[in-house]
Amino acid sequence: MTAAIIIDGKEVAKSIRQGLRPRIAKLKENEIVPGLAAVLVGDNPASQTYVNSKAKACDKLGMYSEVIRKPASLSQEELIEIVEGLNANRKIHGILVQSPLPEQIDEPEVTVHLSPEKDVDGFHPFNVGQMLIGRGKLLPCTPHGIIKLLEYYEISTEGKEAVVVGRSNIVGKPVAVLLMQKGKMANATVTIAHSRTSNLREVCGRADILIAAIGRANFINADMVKEGAVVIDVGINRIDDPNREKGYRLVGDVDFESVKEKASYITPVPGGVGPMTIAMLLSNTVTAAENIGC
Ligand code: GUN
Repeated sequence: MTAAIIIDGKEVAKSIRQGLRPRIAKLKENEIVPGLAAVLVGDNPASQTYVNSKAKACDKLGMYSEVIRKPASLSQEELIEIVEGLNANRKIHGILVQSPLPEQIDEPEVTVHLSPEKDVDGFHPFNVGQMLIGRGKLLPCTPHGIIKLLEYYEISTEGKEAVVVGRSNIVGKPVAVLLMQKGKMANATVTIAHSRTSNLREVCGRADILIAAIGRANFINADMVKEGAVVIDVGINRIDDPNREKGYRLVGDVDFESVKEKASYITPVPGGVGPMTIAMLLSNTVTAAENIGC
């Protein structure tokens, strides 16, 4: 068995962005510049990094972007007011409220105040419901990005055993829905495992496609992976590393070094799923602008 093919998320993300250019040009012919607003509450360093890279990515494609920064003391009512202002703002086609939010804010309650047609995260219950019945227009970015990675590498999901480890609303649940759907890049037999699954090693060992989204550094090791499996690592965990200037480095949920010897394909961290999330966010913003049409 040779070592796994390393899935290059940066390359796939670039091809997605290139595909957006003619769509953006067409919108501009109609005097529409797709616009994304990101709302950042508090000073979580990882969130600041994400939001800054989203704004930069918009600039590079000639899209409009705004970042609204508010202190961690912001009230729920104030945040809802900001969201409602953006719903009515004609320059903005996509709205993203960066997670995590401070504890005084009830995140799902804020989400229902987003206009579903500007909900580029795909988190509004209307969009979640549309996705569930196979009619989603704005799909959650990370799950959709995972499907695009598989598609780019021509990895078939048809009839395959897919195991998703993690049941979050952002990744685990929606990626399971997309993989089980009827249709192209779907039709998989899906199992969702999580922290309370008693025979996790056995369940993971069944997977032709294993998706790790649990948020625990290096949690999936080679013993849990079937020979030849496709392994998608969604984790972004900081671990201390005194040899790095910042004092930490990023690792995934998968023990990359051991698993790459057993898998047929594997995503690295960083450079795997991460770049796809931003590419799909841009894609959803362009789609939202096309759908809104002004
Ligand atoms: N925090 C981490 N990932 C995401 C995401 O995809 N969307 C939002 N809004 N917040 C996040």
